[in-house]
Amino acid sequence: MDALLPTRRSVRNGVVIVGAGGHGKVVLDILRAAGKYKPIGFLDADPALTDSYVAGLPVLGSINTVTTLRRQRVRRALVAIGDNRTRAEYAAKLLEQGIELVNAIHPTAFVSPTATLGRNVVVAAKAAVGTEARLGDSVIVNTSAVVDHECDLGEAAHVCPAAALAGRVRVGRGAFIGAGARVIQCRTVGAYAIVGAGAVVIRDVLDETTVVGVPARPVRSGVRPTIYPVSVALPKLAAG
Ligand SMILES: CC(C)(COP(=O)(O)OP(=O)(O)OC[C@H]1O[C@@H](n2cnc3c(N)ncnc32)[C@H](O)[C@@H]1OP(=O)(O)O)[C@@H](O)C(=O)NCCC(=O)NCCS
Repeated sequence: MDALLPTRRSVRNGVVIVGAGGHGKVVLDILRAAGKYKPIGFLDADPALTDSYVAGLPVLGSINTVTTLRRQRVRRALVAIGDNRTRAEYAAKLLEQGIELVNAIHPTAFVSPTATLGRNVVVAAKAAVGTEARLGDSVIVNTSAVVDHECDLGEAAHVCPAAALAGRVRVGRGAFIGAGARVIQCRTVGAYAIVGAGAVVIRDVLDETTVVGVPARPVRSGVRPTIYPVSVALPKLAAG
């Protein structure tokens, strides 16, 4: 791994991407397009990926490599893990270790100057975030998604590609709004709820409830969607 570790010169504005899967590659594209930070490598739980290249960027090791990276003066990361709970968990642990979590905003996205964004937030290509919207830490507003005026998105919520939230929608922590889904104005989608792809939400959705269809109706409670295939379980992050 040492051969792939960044040199001090490459670390200025350097950022590591945690998660070398599909979402990690999306985030890499965004960071490259935005140009503010220099992606210097991925960290990934799959040991088979260490020392390989993903989308032209080296995989430096597992999440525990962050301790080594800190010694190399790498101070920034972005957790690009699709699973909402895991993303929030890793983001919290990296913060505890003194790592700065940065945002990735694609240059073709519109983010209102009156919107407020937490840390570790991703706004992908052609997405729109309207006036006075509030995005919590680790939120993903994916490709071509719309988060309209005064929406409030809890930590690690994910608005999938082409989904749209009308004005003043509240989305709870860890909730998942599937691809192409719609939520009409002023509704609440509860924490860890799942809105199926293409659904149209016209009534509030309770916490941890899955709804599908037009209009959206509950199908079950407590399931978690697989949004990007994860081949191996993610390890615990070493303390300190
Ligand atoms: C809602 C969802 C999470 C349910 O997945 P699941 O727990 O595996 O559920 P199942 O596939 O067993 O489906 C359960 C029932 O809901 C129906 N259903 C599932 N997804 C549906 C959808 N999006 N729209 C309408 N009906 C749907 C199924 O037909 C099934 O109905 P049945 O019991 O009458 O046969 C999933 O289908 C979905 O829509 N995921 C969103 C994917 C997405 O947007 N990915 C973007 C990644 S960035």
